[in-house]
Amino acid sequence: MQYVINDLKRLWGRVAANERWYEHHWLGVPIWQLPEDLIRLQEICFEVQPDWIVETGTKFGGSAIFFASLLELTGKKQGGIITLDIFSTTEAQDTFTKHPLRHYVKKVIVGDASDASAGEQVANTLGANPGKVLVFLDDNHNADHVYREMEMYAHFVPLDSYMIVADTVFQDLAGTPVGVSTDKYPDVASSNPRVAVSRFLEGRDDFVRDSRFMDKGVGNFPDGFLKRTS
Ligand SMILES: C[S@@+](CC[C@H](N)C(=O)[O-])C[C@H]1O[C@@H](n2cnc3c(N)ncnc32)[C@H](O)[C@@H]1O
Repeated sequence: MQYVINDLKRLWGRVAANERWYEHHWLGVPIWQLPEDLIRLQEICFEVQPDWIVETGTKFGGSAIFFASLLELTGKKQGGIITLDIFSTTEAQDTFTKHPLRHYVKKVIVGDASDASAGEQVANTLGANPGKVLVFLDDNHNADHVYREMEMYAHFVPLDSYMIVADTVFQDLAGTPVGVSTDKYPDVASSNPRVAVSRFLEGRDDFVRDSRFMDKGVGNFPDGFLKRTS
């Protein structure tokens, strides 16, 4: 019976990743996430109680404001959100100047998130004693890029916190509309965040996959929750 459930989950994941997931809003801001994944991100943030959340892939600012609202609800006052994107959208600029939770967004970095200078800006913003940091990688989903980022952002993650790699489902989307070959993503089946996660874990033993957050329902981050264990 389990194989039927696994097949259905895979099929539903392929449907969900193609069906208007980009039309949701969080507190008025467009957010490019499945609602089920927002529940998971809330679960992990409540468990970890991060002071800082570093996210790559700002887009319109929806996930930054989502994370800001979690910091607000968990009573965090010292840290904030650092968000990075290669483009600065007018929607994001608007979000970060007008939204009632904008004060949690402490740094907006525009540039390639895998560039060393982006890492330096993150390090400078976090300072020497940032407390608990959680990292969420949601920008370019090519394997080499995600792997480079994972190596770069891993050292910001303290013991018992997490690096979350979005859209590890990408590999399963080949043959669906969002998985069609493009200049940016010539072959989602072979170059995707899941490949990057495997490569990253092969090379080190200080992170493990934590499947607790993905063992129910549909989601875009199967294999994406990596816990720092040493
Ligand atoms: C999936 S969207 C992010 C969605 C957002 N996290 C949310 O939940 O609303 C991906 C974003 O990554 C950005 N991006 C693509 N390549 C990038 C790179 N090399 N460095 C930084 N950002 C990049 C794109 O401009 C796009 O805004």
